Amino acid sequence: MKEIISISLGSSDRDYEFETEFLGQDFYIRRIGADGNLEKAAAMLAEWDKDADVMGLGHIKFPYEIGADRGKQKHAQKLEKLASRIRTPVVTGESLRKVGYEWSLRHIQFKFGGNYFNNARVLFLSGMTNYSMAKNMSEYTENLTFADPVLKNGISKFLNSLKELERYGGGIHEVLQWVPSKRFSSSVVPLKAWNEYIIRKAMQKANVIVVPYYGFYDYLEKCTLEELGGKIIITATAYDDRIQFLKERGVNVVIDSTPKILERVVAVNVLEALIIAALGKPPEEVTDDDLLEVVSEQRMDPRVVYPSGDPKRVNRFAFVIHPLSQEHLKKEKSVDFLSKVTPPGFLDAVEKVVAYSPPWIYSKVTGIKSPTGVETEGWLISVGGTPKQMLSHDPQFTYDRLLQAAKMAKRLGAQIMGLGAFTKVVGDAGVTVAKLADIPITTGNSYSASGALWAAADAVRRMGLVKVEKKKRLNAKTMVVGATGAIGSVCSRLLPYAFEEVYMVGRNMAKLLALKASILEETPDVKIHLSTRADKYLPDMDVIVTATSGAGKAILDITKVKPGCVITDVARPLDLSAEDVAKRPDVLVIESGEIELPGNPEMKNIGLPQKVVYACLAETIVLALEGRFETFTIGRDIEWKKVRDIYKMGLKHGMKLAAISGVNGVFTDEDIAKVKALALEAREKAKEAA
Ligand SMILES: NC(=O)c1ccc[n+]([C@@H]2O[C@H](COP(=O)([O-])OP(=O)(O)OC[C@H]3O[C@@H](n4cnc5c(N)ncnc54)[C@H](OP(=O)(O)O)[C@@H]3O)[C@@H](O)[C@H]2O)c1
Repeated sequence: MKEIISISLGSSDRDYEFETEFLGQDFYIRRIGADGNLEKAAAMLAEWDKDADVMGLGHIKFPYEIGADRGKQKHAQKLEKLASRIRTPVVTGESLRKVGYEWSLRHIQFKFGGNYFNNARVLFLSGMTNYSMAKNMSEYTENLTFADPVLKNGISKFLNSLKELERYGGGIHEVLQWVPSKRFSSSVVPLKAWNEYIIRKAMQKANVIVVPYYGFYDYLEKCTLEELGGKIIITATAYDDRIQFLKERGVNVVIDSTPKILERVVAVNVLEALIIAALGKPPEEVTDDDLLEVVSEQRMDPRVVYPSGDPKRVNRFAFVIHPLSQEHLKKEKSVDFLSKVTPPGFLDAVEKVVAYSPPWIYSKVTGIKSPTGVETEGWLISVGGTPKQMLSHDPQFTYDRLLQAAKMAKRLGAQIMGLGAFTKVVGDAGVTVAKLADIPITTGNSYSASGALWAAADAVRRMGLVKVEKKKRLNAKTMVVGATGAIGSVCSRLLPYAFEEVYMVGRNMAKLLALKASILEETPDVKIHLSTRADKYLPDMDVIVTATSGAGKAILDITKVKPGCVITDVARPLDLSAEDVAKRPDVLVIESGEIELPGNPEMKNIGLPQKVVYACLAETIVLALEGRFETFTIGRDIEWKKVRDIYKMGLKHGMKLAAISGVNGVFTDEDIAKVKALALEAREKAKEAA
């Protein structure tokens, strides 16, 4: 049986001994603490020299990974010097620790879908100690913050990139001009109130916090739920007391970068000694690659601990919104007040000025939880332009603002960004923005199309005027207004699966003819009619979907519509005004298919009932929950497969069709019964008159 003896400068209260098997060999492992007494540790090294196969040195602070002054502690240097004089190979665990960093990050990124750390905001409490991990992490995210100047030098400044950390480590970063002799402290310096405050804020903003093993409690002792709640903590050798400490502060996930070689948690020097002893080679002949090979071949996965007991994952999204009209702008209190006391042209001026303003965060969104257990949080970022303003400028004007919003979203840690309402109507419907932005973009149009038809189907079923037979197309007529648009064309493509006759209305006959030809390839037996004017066929339609970007212009004459018709108004601003709708109480006008979110979402009012959001926002949320951080829907040719995929993913993550609503709010069964009764009455009257 081989013997591994670990001499630790730490407390003897933690001493242990046990036997185990590793790589087909038997081992006796013993840890002996010297309670910080260097002489005692030295004596023990000499004492065990004759018996141990490999010895480990524990609880010494590893030197910094970069910089000329690598902050090695004096007692550690002395101990290592002593160790070099004895016969038995001695290791500190430093090599395995570095290998463990790389292995744990890569392994976890791969295990959780290849995007676990994508664009995460990562705070390193000591970049100098965890430089190699920071280097690995920089492959997944640019959102890196290093607290070294604050915690090592007491300077109120963070480093925000690997390059800055390297300059700091090399003693040439400008923050060091405040430090006499440019020395780095080898432990956490006492924090002044302001530094304490900025550290707390940085922790609150981070998604991931990397905490060195050595000095763990010094770094975290003042932290509460506010700083650590919901975070991912990466650390090394997380003993039970540390896990308990993090659990009490609401940490979601603890990633222990020390490979899990044994059932119990032991220090990294013990593990390295074990591997060296098992390989039977002198330590100087064992390379990092040898260690990595053993770790990966033996599947020594990093330990992932969920302190609450349940697996937790929180993904992040951003979504761009904009004021729909001057009326929305007036909801801003200061604008509302001024609009009352200033001349009539004032709001026009405000609308123009606000259109130029940089994007701002309108609301943080929290509390969305899929039945799969995955959660997501995000930010609604507002750009200033109303549809009128966006249409009156070159598309580049809107692209520029959307790219600014994408930059902001990236800084916030979002992993995907959705484009709301008019921001994707302008120009090429997200193509340019997706090409130039640094994070994946989606317009949300696949789910908007799906939601519109989902709502229309629900409304038709509840009205009960069209006979619905299982597995048969409806013997009814449907019309799409704005048929050649992004949403309109998907609706035109989907409706032939459910209706025998489809009427497509657009402003451009050539586009309509091309669309018809491609639809007939998929569904050859549907009757398709084309028109550049909606009015001509309105009296015959049972279901109408209107999805134009007419920005509030009169699009269809509701007085000509058949009694009992169901109209789904997808457009924002709506194609049918409240006054229009009031003219026909015998027609059911619904405001497209909004989606009800799972969990207990919290966000500022977006003009919809609690938990309910626009389908395009819901698409962004579904993709975040699914971890599909890819450009999903862009351009005007929406793929039918994507519409189906997002619908299915939505169901998986607990999305529901929201209660169907109209200009006056949610339709109750009584409201619908009233519309139906009026429709039947009107049809009867029409029959009598004929
Ligand atoms: N409810 C939601 O969740 C949701 C989600 C996304 C979008 N939207 C809204 O849905 C609407 C359509 O979006 P989209 O992305 O499909 O836009 P789009 O690709 O630009 O398509 C708009 C369509 O409207 C037609 N159109 C424009 N002005 C018109 C006018 N004055 N009269 C008649 N037709 C007109 C266009 O015809 P041409 O082809 O002839 O130009 C085009 O076919 C927009 O109002 C948007 O804000 C709602």
